[in-house]
Amino acid sequence: VVNISSLYKDTGMFTYDPGFTSTASCESKITYIDGDEGTLLYRGYPIEQLADHGDFLETCYLLLYGELPTKAQKDDFVNRVTYHTMIHEQMNRFFAGFRRDAHPMAIMCGTVGALSAFYHDSTDITDPHQRMVASLRMIAKMPTIAAMAYKYHVGQPFVYPRNNLDYSSNFLHMCFAVPCEEYKVNPVLARAMDRIFILHADHEQNASTSTVRLAGSSGANPFACIAAGIACLWGPAHGGANEAALSMLAEIGSVDQIPEYVARAKDKNDPFRLMGFGHRVYKNYDPRAKIMQKTCHEVLGELGIKDDPLLDIAMELEKIALNDEYFIEKKLYPNIDFYSGITLRALGFPTNMFTVLFALARTVGWIAQWKEMVEDPSQRIGRPRQLYTGATRRDYTPIDQRR
Ligand code: ACO
Repeated sequence: VVNISSLYKDTGMFTYDPGFTSTASCESKITYIDGDEGTLLYRGYPIEQLADHGDFLETCYLLLYGELPTKAQKDDFVNRVTYHTMIHEQMNRFFAGFRRDAHPMAIMCGTVGALSAFYHDSTDITDPHQRMVASLRMIAKMPTIAAMAYKYHVGQPFVYPRNNLDYSSNFLHMCFAVPCEEYKVNPVLARAMDRIFILHADHEQNASTSTVRLAGSSGANPFACIAAGIACLWGPAHGGANEAALSMLAEIGSVDQIPEYVARAKDKNDPFRLMGFGHRVYKNYDPRAKIMQKTCHEVLGELGIKDDPLLDIAMELEKIALNDEYFIEKKLYPNIDFYSGITLRALGFPTNMFTVLFALARTVGWIAQWKEMVEDPSQRIGRPRQLYTGATRRDYTPIDQRR
């Protein structure tokens, strides 16, 4: 039996807070969430307004610099991002080193971390100019790397960036253009892609963002920090939930099966949960879920997909759950992942690319949060406490005396 009080008598007071549900790790001016109201603000601007009227690169500027850009600032920012879309040619060889059936997130972890081996002139975090160049490079190169991971995975040749296209159109082009065939980006789908990027751009101190901040607090370079964020995002409880929601809808299979699955979700003896429902912070409708639902309808409408059985199941499931006492009482509403899987699948992405797209979009949030931390004079290396519950001091036993 460990005598905790004797171990901790001289360490002062500290909180034991598994999952950090009530401990703030930083001050931030970037993103605000009111989970009870269902509000999400980037630098004070509601996500609905940014998704309706803004575009992703404008949102990147806002997250990085705190204000919406003027026309001249925006043009300049777009030019500077566009300048950096290529990756070093030698990096192509990294992709060839992976097995074809490698998960694209595994490829992302490796290649993004490798950027620091190529761009030495933007790894000195004490230099504001280098920090700025690193930020632009990350935002510019993520679509290229993500598209290359996709192309490698499906066994097609890489498509180089087209800098006369806007950010999201260029990304769709790099993913879906094939040699010897005309490929024209559909502007409605490009706009939907752009909106999906805006919705995922930042979400305050979630697990991956906290990981980026913790890695950065030691002075690690930004490329290494973003690679750490990607690794954290990969987990099914974080970036992998949209894939799980889509699989669940497929498993339910038809609208008449829904009551059975709702009953299972309410049964305490059954570990099954309705994927895409509930959120640690939102105890009201996730505002991103509403925009995602609208985007989903737009994409399916544009592609002429009239009857998507998974969409029918999703809409009916939402209706049933929102009128069910259990879900009302526990404040379980659809989250962003509920409709994003259906939308991304309709855009043509295989399920194992869903988290990659999330990482692409979240890169700006990670980099803005990293920059804010590095520029904060009160920042110290992150070093959580622990509540030790192991053995107290004891003496080494020679191996021949151990039982
Ligand atoms: N289906 C059924 N019951 C649920 C669900 C669900 N999806 N989510 C929560 N509950 C119940 C729990 O069983 C628990 O019930 P109890 O009070 O009787 O024990 C209660 O609601 C609270 O649940 P917690 O797990 O304590 O809530 P927490 O805030 O820790 O978890 C989470 C939030 C992980 C998102 C959870 O709601 C969940 O597992 N949802 C499904 C997975 C999912 O959609 N994840 C994506 C999140 S969004 C994102 O990461 C981008």
